[in-house]
Amino acid sequence: MSLFFYITWVLVLSSKFYLASAETSDKIGINYGKLGSNLPSSYQSIESIKFLKAGSVKIYDANPEILKLLSGTDLKVSIMVQNHEIIDIASKQKVADQWVHDNVLSFYPETMIRFILVGNEILSQSSEEYKQIWKNLVPAMHRIKKCLNAHNIHNIKVGTPLAMDIFQTTFPPSNGTFRSDISASVMEPLLQFLNRTKSFFFLDVYPYFAWSTNPKTISLDFALLRETNTSYTDPNSGLVYTNLLDQMLDSVIFAMAKLGYSDIRLAISETGWPNAGDFDQIGANIYNAATYNRNLIKKMTSKPALGTPARPGSIIPTFIFSLYDENQKTGPGTERHWGMLHGNGVPIYEIDLSGNRSLSQYRPLPLAHNNVPYKGKVWCVVARSADLLALTSALGYACGQGNGTCDALVPGQRCYQPLSLYWHASYAFSSYWAKFMGKGATCYFNGLAQQTIINPSRGNCRFPSVTL
Ligand SMILES: *[C@@H]1O[C@H](CO)[C@@H](O)[C@H](O)[C@H]1NC(C)=O
Ligand SMILES: *[C@@H]1O[C@H](CO)[C@@H](O)[C@H](O)[C@H]1NC(C)=O
Ligand SMILES: *[C@@H]1O[C@H](CO)[C@@H](O)[C@H](O)[C@H]1NC(C)=O
Ligand SMILES: *[C@@H]1O[C@H](CO)[C@@H](O)[C@H](O)[C@H]1NC(C)=O
Ligand SMILES: *[C@@H]1O[C@H](CO)[C@@H](O)[C@H](O)[C@H]1NC(C)=O
Repeated sequence: MSLFFYITWVLVLSSKFYLASAETSDKIGINYGKLGSNLPSSYQSIESIKFLKAGSVKIYDANPEILKLLSGTDLKVSIMVQNHEIIDIASKQKVADQWVHDNVLSFYPETMIRFILVGNEILSQSSEEYKQIWKNLVPAMHRIKKCLNAHNIHNIKVGTPLAMDIFQTTFPPSNGTFRSDISASVMEPLLQFLNRTKSFFFLDVYPYFAWSTNPKTISLDFALLRETNTSYTDPNSGLVYTNLLDQMLDSVIFAMAKLGYSDIRLAISETGWPNAGDFDQIGANIYNAATYNRNLIKKMTSKPALGTPARPGSIIPTFIFSLYDENQKTGPGTERHWGMLHGNGVPIYEIDLSGNRSLSQYRPLPLAHNNVPYKGKVWCVVARSADLLALTSALGYACGQGNGTCDALVPGQRCYQPLSLYWHASYAFSSYWAKFMGKGATCYFNGLAQQTIINPSRGNCRFPSVTL
């Protein structure tokens, strides 16, 4: 049964012209990503967002259907200028004006648009094409802002979400420094813009990634925002840290201060924890995902506000990633498992974003079984839902890598029978992954492949495996 059925009766519409100050909201927001083949309608999705008691919603474009549906709700809204739109907007005020007209003025103020985010993690890509976009980022933000000012709109902030790869160093937090290739050319003008317009520094920040690449040196409790007695004292600043998120946030504060900006407020445009992943991915499970997000909500909705060690008492607008598991995202298994809801709308675990529910009021969670690295053999086989045509071409790709990857599939050889596409592709995936993993090969094949710890070998056909 989908969440939608539970909540049809919880429809709470607030007064249409309710306007509140955007910037100091301490209600938690949700990232509503749509890269899934099976997602509920926009209408049902917004009902789910209300049911989860979110205060705001962030979308990755300015989808008019969603913006229309959000009109008259009490959800604050963050919309996005897409990366490919930035250069045009930067080059002509007319284009910026048109963008604001189509995507903001058509819905505002009934739809409570409060943030316009220009691009998504554009500094994480460094092709020549993206370097052109870098140069145009701040000019585009200026033009959007100029247009808002011309319409006397002052409660919409303009920002851009950046990922942790903008840093040269993040540890200890006092050592936080922006990458040298962007520091003067992009970060300085960006900070000047954010400071002048009293906007926020939007950060996509994932303690999960920091912890999962260093699980031996960072404790899981520290990453999950659990209250423990472990703490870390920054040797330069003397500040005491009791969780990894605060460390990561403060590295931004220190990096900004080094460039002369010590009052720009922080916002967390994305954070979260994956509820599942591949066998070679540690700590991605429902228990940890629910624990991180619940602790995050508690921390970010505390009154008075907690802030961070470098900024005690500051309010940090926060958007959890993500509403849904998105089955069309590429990359390792975790990428498709950041949701609080399954792709079909069913909750994965209980969560209340209002901050009103204490941890003890949730039912027990399924125990975590992968908080230590998996040790054993892993095979790579066809995912259940694989598409036949695509599978044929993936099989061709795997076998085309040579080095004997598919020798056992030749007529008369030990894996030729049964003559089925699923069987041959599974063998080829396992063989390819085992052979080329050392060179960066993954068990993914555009979502056609998945890892398994159940040995798929049959008869005298032995599938190659990867040993973790
Ligand atoms: C700060 O970063 C620099 C450069 O990355 C490094 O050499 C130095 O050891 C760091 N300082 C501390 C206290 O870790
Ligand atoms: C940032 O803004 C404040 C307040 O408007 C101003 O006093 C300060 O000089 C600005 N900082 C920089 C480095 O421009
Ligand atoms: C923290 O330390 C105190 C005193 O040593 C102890 O009583 C308490 O149980 C500890 N708390 C945790 C969560 O470990
Ligand atoms: C929080 O809980 C209290 C008491 O149960 C309730 O009166 C209040 O309306 C709740 N607030 C929100 C935002 O749900
Ligand atoms: C594939 O075969 C070539 C030539 O024998 C060899 O140089 C290369 O290292 C092999 N690659 C792998 C991943 O086994």
